[in-house]
Amino acid sequence: MFLTPLIALVLAAVPTLGQLDSTTAATTLPGTWSSGSMAVRTGAGFAHPANESFTYPKTTGISYSFTSDGFYEIARYRFVSNGTVPQCVTGVINWAHGTYVLQSNGSITMVPFGDGYQQIQDPCAAQSNFIENYNDTELYELWQIFLDPVTGYKLHLFQFDGSPLAPQFQVSATPNMLPTQSLRNVSGSAPATTAAVTTRDLLATSGGQRRWSVSGTIGVVTVVFGAGLATLLL
Ligand SMILES: *[C@@H]1O[C@H](CO)[C@@H](O)[C@H](O)[C@H]1NC(C)=O
Ligand SMILES: *[C@@H]1O[C@H](CO)[C@@H](O)[C@H](O)[C@H]1NC(C)=O
Ligand SMILES: *[C@@H]1O[C@H](CO)[C@@H](O)[C@H](O)[C@H]1NC(C)=O
Ligand SMILES: *[C@@H]1O[C@H](CO)[C@@H](O)[C@H](O)[C@H]1NC(C)=O
Repeated sequence: MFLTPLIALVLAAVPTLGQLDSTTAATTLPGTWSSGSMAVRTGAGFAHPANESFTYPKTTGISYSFTSDGFYEIARYRFVSNGTVPQCVTGVINWAHGTYVLQSNGSITMVPFGDGYQQIQDPCAAQSNFIENYNDTELYELWQIFLDPVTGYKLHLFQFDGSPLAPQFQVSATPNMLPTQSLRNVSGSAPATTAAVTTRDLLATSGGQRRWSVSGTIGVVTVVFGAGLATLLL
């Protein structure tokens, strides 16, 4: 298994947790997982595909759900800072679902149904607040589940480049997901329609969370999200 120094660092940082063997972990993966304060959750309270809108969580985070028969759903609400232009904080709220495969080399591939979408707010861009289709196949190079004696099961996902996502707590062993099928019509590669959808000011809602700065942050990981390389502040 290919381990980047970053992964090794993360693993070294959690020596008191019991890591499950892969068979046990695979049977434990199904359910709903959520990072941080667990305000972001997959399922009916987050994305409304029929009108391409979102119910905005109180705080940022990520949530993944998996069924035992191969379906997944992802809900993400994040602020991404541009290392080159630190004042250009971008807000991204993203939803996708589809089918996943646990690969024999320990990775997970997630192939979306094609009805995913996201809202991006970038005050420094020409188009500063818009909704677009999101249909990226995602590869997670490594995943691990730890049993924390205090907080229970914790899912660690590592992206295709080895960078870790924020650890996610198990919200429930039963996945809370929208129906596992395409939930809106997407015509070809045309941009998602924005008709009748009120896009909220994502950044204005960040409130106290804008204290983040590139230099003073502890949990900084580099992620590739959509088309761009950016820095995710945990
Ligand atoms: C693991 O398998 C997946 C799916 O076949 C592949 O895309 C990925 O590159 C493989 N990873 C490594 C490190 O070989
Ligand atoms: C989404 O991506 C998949 C896999 O690349 C592709 O087969 C499918 O046609 C895409 N769907 C849409 C609506 O673009
Ligand atoms: C979109 O649909 C959801 C769920 O039916 C509803 O709660 C929400 O008000 C709708 N939003 C817009 C902007 O129409
Ligand atoms: C950061 O901002 C610069 C200048 O606007 C831009 O060229 C670059 O693509 C941005 N990087 C990311 C990751 O958005």
